[in-house]
Amino acid sequence: TPRKDNPLYALLEQAAAYYRQQLRQHPARQRAVSYLKGRGLSGQIAKLYDIGMAPPGWDNLMSHLSRDTTEQNALIEAGLVVENPDSGGRYDRFRDRIMFPIRDSRGRTIGFGGRVLGDEKPKYLNSPETSVFHKGQELYGLYEAKQQNRQLNEILVVEGYMDVIALAQHGVTNAVATLGTATSEEHLKRLFRLVQNVIFCFDGDRAGRQAAWRALNSALPVLEDGRHVRFLFLPDGQDPDTMVRQEGADAFRRRLEREAQPLTDYLFRHLAEESGADSLEGKAHMASLALPLIEQVPGGMLRRLLRQSLQQQTGIDLDTVEPAVMPAVGQPAAPQERPTHD
Ligand code: GTP
Ligand code: MN
Ligand code: MN
Ligand code: MN
Ligand code: MN
Repeated sequence: TPRKDNPLYALLEQAAAYYRQQLRQHPARQRAVSYLKGRGLSGQIAKLYDIGMAPPGWDNLMSHLSRDTTEQNALIEAGLVVENPDSGGRYDRFRDRIMFPIRDSRGRTIGFGGRVLGDEKPKYLNSPETSVFHKGQELYGLYEAKQQNRQLNEILVVEGYMDVIALAQHGVTNAVATLGTATSEEHLKRLFRLVQNVIFCFDGDRAGRQAAWRALNSALPVLEDGRHVRFLFLPDGQDPDTMVRQEGADAFRRRLEREAQPLTDYLFRHLAEESGADSLEGKAHMASLALPLIEQVPGGMLRRLLRQSLQQQTGIDLDTVEPAVMPAVGQPAAPQERPTHD
């Protein structure tokens, strides 16, 4: 069947409506409402992102949206109901969580992220891959960013749902997030169909710095001349949500302007640190790390400048480097589902 006819779209939409309604009507809604207010969100922003609530209990959604086994099966296919493989028992995947619908770029709900209200684990639960939800391609907040901006010229890529929403709350309406996976080449291709400027702004923690380096690796193969990728590294312990709440949107925007580093600066700085580039051994190491990365860049001018810069930094005449001695070009790692971390 063609993708547009997939019945899961209607079901996911009904689920979104259900979770939205629970946040307005459920007897236990006050805790969720207070949580969202405590994180600085207005009703208007909650509405824009269609935030909802999955009530406590094992079968609220299931009993609301299915009457028989066949209808339950559809909920399983949609990732909303889980079947215990041993007992065969079926229950709601999302229970007692704040619900963030994930929309595709046309606004159709394709999955959910759910956050616990307290410190329980896992903090976030995402829909599994389904026939309509492909994590390696979809970006949370892209539909909403397009809604809020007649013309997008730059997109900010952040780690989390709450980063996207908190930024929008403060008027920074061009942020999107990957869905608990690494930024993939597919994500970047999609973004570069919309804008020429992409800025990664991950958390100021180890996971965030690792995500940035992986994002750089995914970006290299799509770096046509004219496309700009930058990286903003936040102070330790901050993420875009805490940062924008602390300093406000204007300071955050100034930070982006002043401190976001071009991908190429980050690449060389990172490799220099990695290889200890002040000795000859270090320079050799740096060149051996940098060359296979540079060779992935499709933009002919940029690739040439990168080679020149590497040559200046290491003193190696790269034209005399035979292709045979270059390490093989590695394939970018496949997006990985990220289990719980700090
Ligand atoms: P808040 O605590 O609500 O501010 O979340 P955060 O987005 O700051 O969380 P964190 O920096 O720890 O993680 C960034 C992103 O990684 C989240 O938005 C999720 O998409 C994902 N993530 C975090 N924790 C989990 C988890 O326990 N399970 C899964 N699958 N993803 C997670
Ligand atoms: Mn983090
Ligand atoms: Mn974070
Ligand atoms: Mn956070
Ligand atoms: Mn974390």
